[in-house]
Amino acid sequence: MFHSKCITSAGLAMVILLLSTAAFAENDSSASQPSSAASATNQSGDELKLRIGPGDPVAGKDKAALCFGCHGEDGNSTDPQYPKLAGQYGIYIAKQIRNYLANTRSHQVMSGMASSISDADLADISAYFASQPIMKGAHPSNNKLGKKLFENDDLSRMMVRCNSCHGATGKGMDPGNPVYPVIGGQHKEYLLAQLINFRKGARNNSPGGIMNITVHRLSDAELDALADYISGL
Ligand code: HEC
Ligand code: HEC
Repeated sequence: MFHSKCITSAGLAMVILLLSTAAFAENDSSASQPSSAASATNQSGDELKLRIGPGDPVAGKDKAALCFGCHGEDGNSTDPQYPKLAGQYGIYIAKQIRNYLANTRSHQVMSGMASSISDADLADISAYFASQPIMKGAHPSNNKLGKKLFENDDLSRMMVRCNSCHGATGKGMDPGNPVYPVIGGQHKEYLLAQLINFRKGARNNSPGGIMNITVHRLSDAELDALADYISGL
């Protein structure tokens, strides 16, 4: 369980360590699978391989059918309580499913869904959603507070600017690293719910509690502004 009283300057040291090393890079075997989905996006072949991860996106499409009702056939859900998965890193998607299964991230519906996915299918399903064109907001937000927080550190509150890990437009680190998810263009409602969960420790599956540390001193209005801005990217 995450407790805000545990946060000390050691937390900040951790953030800096995270940024300066590949401490949390998972063993990545993503280079092993050629992809037939390269034409679906403008990404270079290497970027797309990294995004897709070790699975087979073509085989994954049929296997992912049970997810479409909520997450959309192309990973762009329409109901904002369901996150978009389009273009999300395959390795990140698979990690979340394992976390739901192990109850290190909990949600009634997704924990149930996670237990219905076999290990063999997980990489392919994740690869399918990852191979879709990357999620995008319907229209840009001109939320000034959100943009300011997204792009500027506030080390007095141990807040490291979001774009240092999630990339300039929230589409992931540049160069890509599947530890850091795509958040730009995600639904506002979902983003806000996750930020609130991280702040109160109801979600604490980020490596080293990095997301809990990052948002623990932000106000409701600041989290709302961030979610608003990021959803438009
Ligand atoms: C009945 C609706 C429903 C179905 C079906 C469903 N999901 Fe979900 N999914 C959700 C909800 C709601 C959340 C948000 C849960 C939370 O807040 O933790 C979610 C979250 C997720 C996340 C976390 C996304 C992120 O950005 O961290 C992943 C990954 C995911 N689902 C994958 C799947 C896969 C793969 C399937 C099919 C095997 C599936 N889901 C089927 C409702 C559903
Ligand atoms: C030091 C790196 C780092 C910084 C800075 C950072 N994040 Fe994150 N963030 C992560 C990682 C790593 C994850 C993935 C957590 C996991 O594995 O479940 C994450 C996850 C998230 C998620 C959940 C995504 C999803 O699909 O469920 C949101 C939302 C998010 N971050 C928003 C932000 C915002 C807003 C900021 C700035 C206030 C920020 N992050 C700053 C590393 C960072």
